[in-house]
Amino acid sequence: MRIRVFDTPKDAGIYAAALVEQIILQTDHAVLGLATGSTVIPLYEQLVRLHRNGLDMSHVRTINLDEYVGLPADHPQSYHNFMRTHLFQHVNIPAFHSYIPDGNAADLEQECARYDEVVRKHPLDMQILGIGVNGHIGFNEPDDLLLSKTHVVTLSEETIRSNARFFECADDVPRQAITLGVQAILQAKRIVLMAFGKEKADAVAKSIQGQVRTDVPASILQLHRDVTFVLDMDSASKLAGYGG
Ligand code: F6R
Repeated sequence: MRIRVFDTPKDAGIYAAALVEQIILQTDHAVLGLATGSTVIPLYEQLVRLHRNGLDMSHVRTINLDEYVGLPADHPQSYHNFMRTHLFQHVNIPAFHSYIPDGNAADLEQECARYDEVVRKHPLDMQILGIGVNGHIGFNEPDDLLLSKTHVVTLSEETIRSNARFFECADDVPRQAITLGVQAILQAKRIVLMAFGKEKADAVAKSIQGQVRTDVPASILQLHRDVTFVLDMDSASKLAGYGG
């Protein structure tokens, strides 16, 4: 496990984008597992910059972690829309190379099975993760058990409260989402988890230095052989040895 602590999210984004570029250059048809949310925006800004400076992404495939259930793809808060706005419309990844769960599918179970098949066919070279204030990765929420396959999840009260900042009010936040399970995440060759801000410090410290527990889903990353935590000073502030 590598831990890199930066002064600002922008510096962290530059570093994470360099890691992604390396994978794209070293791999014939790189498959990137992608996250949404405020944390990964500095990474996508830097990938867009690299693309404008010559990075070809036409052979890249992307597989997103999750999507809300019940939001149409063109809803402003859908993860389809997030990815279009922050990355896809600015780079040359072909649309048919990008996968995001369909949260509006008539048969959600079938959609989950279809998505597992997508990941089986296109093994992830690098998985980018954010982390919830409660330690979730993707939408694998703290629980007595973690599910390995893609599944429909009921979002925790904490996640709904936290994501309400993107909606008019908490009532508008969808209650369910489709998320990759922990198996697909752990099968990625490399994992990069990004976290910024004091509100993530607890989850970060528990994930890196605590026990491996299903009620801290990101702690399962301790079992992976190639994980890089890309942090700012605030999110690292409770790590022993990093000011905590
Ligand atoms: C989103 C996702 C989530 C977020 C996490 C952090 O695709 O998988 O696990 O990464 O909730 O969200 P932000 O970055 O908005 O704090």
